[in-house]
Amino acid sequence: MAAQAAVSSATGARRVVLVTGANSGIGLALCERILSEDNQIHLCMACRNMKKAEAAKSELHLSHPGADISLLKIDVGNINSVIKAAKEIRQRYQHVDYLYLNAGIMPNPHFSLKAFLSSLMSRKVFIMFQTGQGLLTQEDWLTDDGLQQVFMTNVFGHFLLIRELEPVLGQGGCTSQVVWTSSSNARKSAFSLTDYQHSQGQESYSSSKYATDLLNVGLNKHYNSKIRVFINSFTLSPYNGTEALVWLFMQKPESLDAMVKYHSCTSAFGNNYVASCKMDIDVETAEIFYQELVKLEGKMKEKSGITGDHS
Ligand SMILES: NC(=O)c1ccc[n+]([C@@H]2O[C@H](COP(=O)([O-])OP(=O)(O)OC[C@H]3O[C@@H](n4cnc5c(N)ncnc54)[C@H](OP(=O)(O)O)[C@@H]3O)[C@@H](O)[C@H]2O)c1
Repeated sequence: MAAQAAVSSATGARRVVLVTGANSGIGLALCERILSEDNQIHLCMACRNMKKAEAAKSELHLSHPGADISLLKIDVGNINSVIKAAKEIRQRYQHVDYLYLNAGIMPNPHFSLKAFLSSLMSRKVFIMFQTGQGLLTQEDWLTDDGLQQVFMTNVFGHFLLIRELEPVLGQGGCTSQVVWTSSSNARKSAFSLTDYQHSQGQESYSSSKYATDLLNVGLNKHYNSKIRVFINSFTLSPYNGTEALVWLFMQKPESLDAMVKYHSCTSAFGNNYVASCKMDIDVETAEIFYQELVKLEGKMKEKSGITGDHS
């Protein structure tokens, strides 16, 4: 990886890698693996709980004593926190080379009698008994900003972050790579453009991850010349789950296909590998959704009294 480290951004500084939700699970495992690939990077661990973040940083320093690591406070479930964190990032760095949007929540699914009864009366009954779909409800609630929590955390908080970081993404003639974690659980059938926050449904997680896939296409269309956005997805242990994330770290963004999702997989013999899979995305829907979120961004900023300039 020494060669890659030499291809640093035109600013001459270290390559900056920012990971949200970096203090545990896949985020922390990713930080560890990226430092093992390239110990010359500057790693920014963006977390909501600074005590946990400090502990995770100390853990990383045990295995990578000289690593250049900083912490940043961000709650991607809160608009003001995202805006504040983005401002801090713009002040700290002239460029962000890798932005890993990893933080996410999957509310514990529980049996819902209401969902069961309504599926029983509908055409979904066969699917329900075959797959269990419709039997379980993924709990959701409202944030202080009045948005659905799962949508805000898994989708809108990160969308806002990308938009606020425009001045430091793709700087100095280099392309920045944005890697947004999706899931194999992303389901088109769970998502609706008319209820993209999923306030009426029972599959908020599946909807939020499909929304992420859609935004990948929308964002690539709008930022293709300087930012490339990629999706990865996985289901196994934190280490195994980072396979596609680490693989993406080593790819030239220009060589990747924006319509493809990169899955972390593990073979029956325990070997990790990356599988690519074309996404079931309608480009027109992706564009409409992107525009809807731009509108929501304007509305929420106005409500919070946030001005449009990035000062
Ligand atoms: N594990 C899997 O099998 C799997 C499969 C597919 C996709 N994924 C996706 O992979 C990502 C990481 O999952 P994981 O398994 O590592 O989950 P995890 O162990 O629960 O870790 C989630 C991380 O996100 C942080 N986070 C949650 N809400 C946040 C918020 N509002 N603001 C800032 N940080 C927040 C958590 O911080 P705290 O410690 O403060 O809670 C934690 O660091 C998620 O996007 C998840 O949807 C996971």
